[in-house]
Amino acid sequence: MNPIGIFDSGIGGLTVAHAVKKVLPNESIVYFGDTAHLPYGDKSTAAIQSYAVKICDLLIKQNCKVILIACNSASAAAYELAKEYVGSKAKVMNVIDPVVAYIGEKYPNKTVGLIGTQKTVNSNVYQKKIDRLGKGIQLKSLATKLLAPMIEEGFCNNNISQSIIYNYLSDVQLQSIEALILGCTHYPLIKKDIELYYNGAIDVIDASNIVAEDLKKYLQQNQLESVESKVEHKFFVSDYTKSFAESTKLFFREEVNLQYYPLWE
Ligand code: DGL
Repeated sequence: MNPIGIFDSGIGGLTVAHAVKKVLPNESIVYFGDTAHLPYGDKSTAAIQSYAVKICDLLIKQNCKVILIACNSASAAAYELAKEYVGSKAKVMNVIDPVVAYIGEKYPNKTVGLIGTQKTVNSNVYQKKIDRLGKGIQLKSLATKLLAPMIEEGFCNNNISQSIIYNYLSDVQLQSIEALILGCTHYPLIKKDIELYYNGAIDVIDASNIVAEDLKKYLQQNQLESVESKVEHKFFVSDYTKSFAESTKLFFREEVNLQYYPLWE
């Protein structure tokens, strides 16, 4: 059966890949982390779109039936273009639409917060999609620029990460919210710190499971589910360093064989 293609600016999208593996254990995954161009959060839309097209080429070559953009910044900047570009060769999905649908169901007429990269927040993509639902949901967004690099550096669940997180979450922009969307695929790694700050007062929404369940629904509805028990996962990166290899384990929660795949030579 054809694999599920998943890509991100780096290794953050492995939080989504991990959820996909758990929810869909019979599916093989081809993961691509564009570590040569990390971070996407401060790149231009045109740059992210050009990377996305190249990555889609690779994932189509790998016969992926679905290409899941496991990065909010790339979902904001390149989803529509990637969908057009890939056409009928594969189904292109993003990490924003399933979360917006979830928010629409669970929080009508409520105030919801969003944290993410500058690219995601400034694109207003969540705001536009939530407004389109017409459910009276007020969104309060804050770009939390330091968080993805901080997590990449391995600062999670310690004093330093806590004080940076607390600083952002106490921003006036995020007050009086009833739920907080973790709008970056790196953030599940600091979910505990965030929950500690709120101490159960609000819901902290980790997109990875919502996205994996949405993918499962799509595969079921289109009879595309794999029934094979033998799966093979492949992990490619556009720039290889030892630190990426080490962090990979942190994000995917198990040892993986990271392969260097130079898309830009
Ligand atoms: N994982 C990316 C996202 O979900 C953020 C990291 C980056 O800036 O590349 O937006």
